Amino acid sequence: MKNFQRYLITAALPYANGPVHIGHLAGVYIPADIYSRYLRLKKEDVIFVCGSDEHGVPITIRAQKEGKTPQEIVDKYHSIIKNSFAEFGINFDIYSRTTNSVHYETASNFFKTIFEKNGFIEKTTENFFDEERQQFLADRYIIGTCPRCGNEKAYGDQCEKCGTSLAPSELLNPHSALSGKPPILKSTKHWYLPLDKFENFLKKWILEEHQEWKPNVYGQCKSWIDSGLQPRAVSRDLNWGVPLPIEEGKGKVLYVWFDAPIGYISATKELTEDWEKYWKSEDTKLVHFIGKDNIVFHCIIFPIMLKMEGSYILPENVPANEFLNLEGEKISTSQNWAVWLHEYLEDFPQKQDVLRYVLTANAPETKDNDFTWKDFQARNNSELVAVLGNFVNRAVVLTHKYFEGKVPQYDSFSDYDKEVLTSFSQIKKNVEENIENFHFREALKEAMNLARIGNKYLADTEPWKIVKTDFLRVQTILYISLQICGNLSLLFEPFLPFTAAKLRKMLNSNEINWENIGKENLLPVNHQIETAELLFAQIEDKEIEKQIEKLHFAKQQRLQQTASQVKSAKQNISYDDFQKIDIRVATVLKAEKVAKTKKLLQLTLDTGIDTRIVVSGIAESYSPEQLIGKQVVILVNLEPREIKGITSQGMILTAEGQNGELCLLSPEKLFMNGAEIK
Ligand code: 2FM
Ligand code: ZN
Repeated sequence: MKNFQRYLITAALPYANGPVHIGHLAGVYIPADIYSRYLRLKKEDVIFVCGSDEHGVPITIRAQKEGKTPQEIVDKYHSIIKNSFAEFGINFDIYSRTTNSVHYETASNFFKTIFEKNGFIEKTTENFFDEERQQFLADRYIIGTCPRCGNEKAYGDQCEKCGTSLAPSELLNPHSALSGKPPILKSTKHWYLPLDKFENFLKKWILEEHQEWKPNVYGQCKSWIDSGLQPRAVSRDLNWGVPLPIEEGKGKVLYVWFDAPIGYISATKELTEDWEKYWKSEDTKLVHFIGKDNIVFHCIIFPIMLKMEGSYILPENVPANEFLNLEGEKISTSQNWAVWLHEYLEDFPQKQDVLRYVLTANAPETKDNDFTWKDFQARNNSELVAVLGNFVNRAVVLTHKYFEGKVPQYDSFSDYDKEVLTSFSQIKKNVEENIENFHFREALKEAMNLARIGNKYLADTEPWKIVKTDFLRVQTILYISLQICGNLSLLFEPFLPFTAAKLRKMLNSNEINWENIGKENLLPVNHQIETAELLFAQIEDKEIEKQIEKLHFAKQQRLQQTASQVKSAKQNISYDDFQKIDIRVATVLKAEKVAKTKKLLQLTLDTGIDTRIVVSGIAESYSPEQLIGKQVVILVNLEPREIKGITSQGMILTAEGQNGELCLLSPEKLFMNGAEIK
């Protein structure tokens, strides 16, 4: 294993187009913070950099929606995000931003260096252009009809109704989101990174030399490399971004994914004059912490950029996490399905470490994981309060009660005492191994084990019962308990920094050297400690219920926003007209796909009146297996119709959602087939 002299830790630059939520913390910033704090405790030379990613089309779209300039948008969110990170103790050495001048200069020079080496491929292509606005249109700014599902509001990069990825040229009736006019095609020149020329380099560098990378990261890289890389444009016809620093590139900017990772370099430059030592020396271990959607950019594109530029080191590791869901659903900024960090702190002031603990204990390290408020409460009450908090409290309170707050002199150690004392260095080793291999959940579990050992030790030895009869023994028990507390204050510093600081204060200790874990007399005999303060408090059911209600309220609001798009009511009909409609309860006996169609299912139904066949367009919302045995509602007296050669006798009733998804109507409980619906 290589011996590194220093560490450069980066955490993905979040887009400054919204606040940050628990998914960000769990996926990237907490693991990166644990790693950096651990290295600092080990007295390594380490810098930890991050900042806001302030370019890209989503920011211009947000600005347009809010009637603001992109700069106003990024100013607002940069400061909210920066504050949230600071409040959660994410201990960056610098939190910069990509709209500052150092970054513009660094990113421009980076591009120029590759340009001057003739590294880019230049290509002229025909792109969509809005004549009225006199500007080229980013894919998101082109709206048209989806060729797959007929949605008339599909974007040039994706149809949000059917989820298909699209190219703008595939849209039917394309028009500009800016002027509403059909765009014209106009030729434009762009600069491409020849990723395909670097396949051999990537095969050797990643597939052979970095087999230790996390399986999810290695696997994604392998699949990108195996499926063949294509040249990728790194310039854009936009007016928001770092201007292309070449004469022919006037009016164009760098692609956001070209400038953003260079932001790591700019931030380091801003931080220290010594920045080159971190970026240009093979003795530096560069580690990028990211989420899984950033893997290709950090493992393939940025390393190729670094290699082409020629003067920088490559990352040694890129630990990416999977995603965190919330109460069983994907976290979504646009849908407001999230726990926002600034809001969490309003509801749970001073409880940063509780969230840090829960998000680490349940981190999506190997697969997507779910955050639930019930689990949050359970981990707080039965782990933080009942184990860690309880142990420390008992040790400190008893020390005051029996020894006026001074570390007592110990007598001889029993086998049990010795076992506890030797566990310190084993736990230290386990935590180290896990952190160094990016297994933070496991590392936290190991640290927590020491608190469990402490709790059990006090419960087993029961000093309060023998204080009158064996004072010497009580001295030893509390001496050992306080050594456990001292070691806990070090072990928890990377994970729960606020708690560790509180514990150090209680112990009247300035000890922040990792290597002193397990040291004899960490808290020396006669050392005076402060009075006890509770480290954690119970979280009550009503606090959790409030959070769950808040989420559901957000969901309701979301549905109501959708309701504003609800079609207005149709003309009234007479009661007589209504009576002509015959709707019944029926049970699905058989369901199968109609050949050569995507949407149609052929259903055989027991309607109570007869057994009949109905063709229904629900195949994109239900699989045949989901339907067999299900009760549905059917309009039985609709005239039979021929659909794809099948006679359909009636219509199954469904509700249609905003994105065209269908929801079957069924009786609320199992009911008689043929029952009339009135
Ligand atoms: O996915 C994102 O949120 C990007 N803004 C991450 C950029 S990371 C780095 F390259 F700057
Ligand atoms: Zn579609």
